[in-house]
Amino acid sequence: MSPSSILHLEIIPTSGALGAELRGIDLAQPLSADTAQEIRGALAEHGVIFFRDQNITPEQHIAFAQCLAPININRFFKTAPGYAEISEVRKEPEQDKNIGGAWHTDHSYDHIPALGSILLAREVPERGGDTMFAAMWQAYEALSDGLKQTLEGLRAAHSSRHVFGVEARKTRNMGDRLVNAELATQDAVHPVVIRHPENGRKILYVNRTFTTHFEGWTAEESKPLLEYLYAHGSRPEFQTRFQWEKGSIAIWDNRSTWHLALNDYHGERRLMHRITLEGTPIAGVH
Ligand code: SIN
Repeated sequence: MSPSSILHLEIIPTSGALGAELRGIDLAQPLSADTAQEIRGALAEHGVIFFRDQNITPEQHIAFAQCLAPININRFFKTAPGYAEISEVRKEPEQDKNIGGAWHTDHSYDHIPALGSILLAREVPERGGDTMFAAMWQAYEALSDGLKQTLEGLRAAHSSRHVFGVEARKTRNMGDRLVNAELATQDAVHPVVIRHPENGRKILYVNRTFTTHFEGWTAEESKPLLEYLYAHGSRPEFQTRFQWEKGSIAIWDNRSTWHLALNDYHGERRLMHRITLEGTPIAGVH
């Protein structure tokens, strides 16, 4: 099959802040370089992009991801049987905790955080299980000039330890959905305000799940300002909400957005396949 030559996708924004649905493409078909470029451009512009009715095979999911960026093999999620590249985001009817139920951005604990994640819905509940996304360039823009200036001079520490590590697993029983607790040793320090590597936007880069403190400050000293930023960043006007159907795909930019999986479908299964895309080094604004 020759690569798709679609050059202009239909792009329909999903909120005033971020998000767009892309129509007019079958992701089971190989992508041309131009189409892959157009998808990457839409992702940078809208922060999260959505596709409907893409009941692709795991091989096609992997091939699609490879057209966008190299694949990052996740250390902590159980993988789809036979596919090391695909992480399972699963909640069974008898489980009460979901994965990703607090605002976060994937892999901020890595020195080079992930570019993005591609989540494909395999099984969805009758209702509920939506995912929320928030635009961190909008959150940054809405701050006062004084706070912007202060934040631009700060760096923050991020870690995987308290989320995926041995101690965390004792209090946060996720069954066999998470693996390799002993590998959760990642610590990274990043500027609190970063520049998007592709479009140059200034972005607020801290998140409730993985950020632990400001560099040079104690966790206790950091908490009030971090809490302010978490409350600010989750204001409804910076958000969009995605309702899944089997075969829906969301791709989000991990540098410029937060996301949160709603846990409102107890007693039903939700199974998603996630592929994470490798990023490039991120930098502050000075
Ligand atoms: C995630 O946090 O990566 C999963 C999001 C979701 O399941 O909606």
